Amino acid sequence: MKKTTNEIRQKFLEFFQEKGHTILPSSSLIPKDDSTLLFTNAGMNQFKNFFLNPKKKKYSRVTTAQRCLRTGGKHNDLENVGYTERHHTFFEMLGNFSFNDYFKKEAITYAWELLTSAKWFNINQNKLWISVYENDEETYKIWIDIIKISPQHIIKIGDKNNSKYNSENFWQMGDTGPCGPCTEIFYNYDIKNHHDFSDFLKNKNEYFIEIWNIVFIEYNRISSKSIIPLEYKSIDTGMGLERISSVLQDVNSNYKTDVFQKLIQNIASFSKTKNLNNISLKIISDHIRSCIFLIYENVIPSNEHRGYILRRIIRRMLRHAYKIGIKKNFFHKIVPYFIENISENFNFIKEKEKQIKETLKTEEIQFSETLEKGLKILNIEIKKISNQKISGKTIFYLYDTFGFPVDLTLDVCREKGIKVNLDGYYLEREKQKKHSKIGSKFYTNYNQIININDHCTFEGYKKNTIKALIKQIYINEKLTSSILEGESGIIFLDKTCFYPESGGQVGDIGKLYYKKSHFIVKDTKKYGNTIGHIGTLIKGKFKINDFLYTKIDTLYRKNIQINHSATHLLHSALRKILGNIVTQKGSLVTHTRLRFDFSYPKNISFYDIQKIEQVVNAEIYKNNLIKVQYCSLEEAKKKKAIALFESKYNSIVRVISIKNFSIELCGGTHTKRTGDIGLFKITDQSSISSGIKRIEAITNSQSINLLHIQENKLKDISTLLKANSVNFKNKIEKLITKVKDLEIQVNILQKKENIHQIKKITEKIEDIKGVKLLINIFQKYDYKSLKLIIDQLKKDFKSIIIIFINKNNNHFNIIAGVTKNLTNFLTALEIIKIFTQLSNGKGGGKDEIAEGSSVNTMNLSKILKIIKSWINSKLEN
Ligand code: SER
Repeated sequence: MKKTTNEIRQKFLEFFQEKGHTILPSSSLIPKDDSTLLFTNAGMNQFKNFFLNPKKKKYSRVTTAQRCLRTGGKHNDLENVGYTERHHTFFEMLGNFSFNDYFKKEAITYAWELLTSAKWFNINQNKLWISVYENDEETYKIWIDIIKISPQHIIKIGDKNNSKYNSENFWQMGDTGPCGPCTEIFYNYDIKNHHDFSDFLKNKNEYFIEIWNIVFIEYNRISSKSIIPLEYKSIDTGMGLERISSVLQDVNSNYKTDVFQKLIQNIASFSKTKNLNNISLKIISDHIRSCIFLIYENVIPSNEHRGYILRRIIRRMLRHAYKIGIKKNFFHKIVPYFIENISENFNFIKEKEKQIKETLKTEEIQFSETLEKGLKILNIEIKKISNQKISGKTIFYLYDTFGFPVDLTLDVCREKGIKVNLDGYYLEREKQKKHSKIGSKFYTNYNQIININDHCTFEGYKKNTIKALIKQIYINEKLTSSILEGESGIIFLDKTCFYPESGGQVGDIGKLYYKKSHFIVKDTKKYGNTIGHIGTLIKGKFKINDFLYTKIDTLYRKNIQINHSATHLLHSALRKILGNIVTQKGSLVTHTRLRFDFSYPKNISFYDIQKIEQVVNAEIYKNNLIKVQYCSLEEAKKKKAIALFESKYNSIVRVISIKNFSIELCGGTHTKRTGDIGLFKITDQSSISSGIKRIEAITNSQSINLLHIQENKLKDISTLLKANSVNFKNKIEKLITKVKDLEIQVNILQKKENIHQIKKITEKIEDIKGVKLLINIFQKYDYKSLKLIIDQLKKDFKSIIIIFINKNNNHFNIIAGVTKNLTNFLTALEIIKIFTQLSNGKGGGKDEIAEGSSVNTMNLSKILKIIKSWINSKLEN
């Protein structure tokens, strides 16, 4: 019987357990504390520090089945997905690792035994082929002399383009990090035709698939130009679970394995296609897995960073769904099927089923319209072109005007065999960037220039000041040996008490000093494993290898700590009042305020906000101790600790607990007791995107200040009202009633006054060629009433032109009215135009009524005279 994918995973781990390896869980898809990686892209990522730093190594032999995502960054397979039988965005990588334990011989022997022995995977040896790094004679010999592989089945692969270590057989994690030569094991699907292995390497035919990569980690790449040997040697191997399943299940495609077939059949049932080999089905079945696991890790679709990759995957998936006739609102329907039928090994997903479904649904609804519009326009453009090439301008137009992703344009064109001018697109984009000065938020320059091998110990949980050694100094992103008075830069130390910005908590400020030299730290940030003190040297000089004292601004830190602890109380109170559906999406903790973003689909009422404040303050009054403990992730889970959204797998975690009210994994700094928070006050509540709410709050003296500001405002109003805090509301209500009564009376009086005015001014009506003309100047007359008077006069006199001026201190308004029957000769708007030109004023309106205003009251009578003679001439004509 063929093994299922779940059984294959299990067998792999068991094999290495028998060989003395500890089975460890997969780490999160979001790498922990590693700014060099967007997503976990290999099994070895979680052990990066074990390879680099002997002191950090906790095991000698380990085996895992690691969830990986190869989209964005050095290893990116997105474009290949669906078009080959074995590339994925999300996949599982089986691996065995040795840290300064066994090396080449054992690693190769273990792999060979697992693959070929009858007890394990029992693969026919003749179907296996090997590649080794050209200079790695030792490995070549192991294959030939110990494993006894035929020399026809092994090939040496060297460097490309004469560039050292640039080879298929030299594996590198990313632009920096552990690396080394590797040997790869291939499986040949088509043994009968006996395809030439070297031909495969040239032409990449699909009969040979790489199933296992054994990397001999010996080096650390520290920059594009520099690579250094490591203190000890290690093994990192990786075998794609989906690929080995396709081999052991004897199908020639990952998409034909048990897991994918179930998924594909489910997706096809919603579509119009019956062909289970359809590329779109493959793409959707791949992408949905990435989406589920990414949203599980609390990534939400957005326009930057990880959220942007998720958005790209969802949108690509939607385009393919659209193509095979899948109706709207569909993706979230696959999620329950996946959970029920496929995720045997991933039971944990169930806890976030609702969140995953809602996120997919929202994104699908939002994007559907753009997709339809964009595809329509793209198809029109494709029909128009004569040279079978879409211009950069069109790609940019689709993206910029309609939000139609460039990926999708490329995908559509690729299917239709149409070329794209991508360079032209970049050019257009650059032009616009320059124009609008928008920068890319993707990577920070500093992360690329800091030697990530450096390590800085954070000692600031307990100490506010310590002595430390200067390791590196950067000025203007360049490494220098010293920093002089007046210069700004970043100083790196061997240890520090400055907390670097992370987990929402802002970086510390303070000073670095020694004797007469003073460096003012205005921010602290993490750079890989080290910590940068950003600021300016105001006095003296510092150079590399100098000792100095680090001293944080303690008041600033104290206020941050208070706000951080208050954030934990708020988080728990939200879950208590609104339910466990509340999931943290982000936070900001500064010395003056805190901000907490979380997913919650409904509106939060004013009363709920008050309840939340009450619950938090009740915990503050208890003055409970805020305890910090280190324990295993398992223990923390047992305690039901809330994991922060950025928190990733780490065997030992830091837990902050406030009795049983709040237990959270957190690396931040906290105050000693809840009573230190003083008073907690929510200042604002808003919705930042669909389903994501934001609460802003203050504590301690900030809350008291706010109360004082509000109290002062109330006091001012009370004084104006001649009221006190007891009869305050009553007085305002009375005042409002009184104002309403007065308004009614004023209206009555105004109407009487209007009638009186009409009588008075009709005496001034002149007759020009049978047409009535009335010009009158009022002083501070009720403006609305003037319009009513015009309406009345128009009714009373069937052919009339009315011009009213209303003088108000230093400016005047004009309203002109013309009965409809006269608008063929002259219009109210024309009158106002003459007026605005002559008086330097402004105005506008329609043919029958128009108005304007001006501050130039000097020549009013002259202006009116001109208007009058213009009317005369018009009527005469
Ligand atoms: N790190 C290597 C790879 O990803 C082997 O695990 O291929």
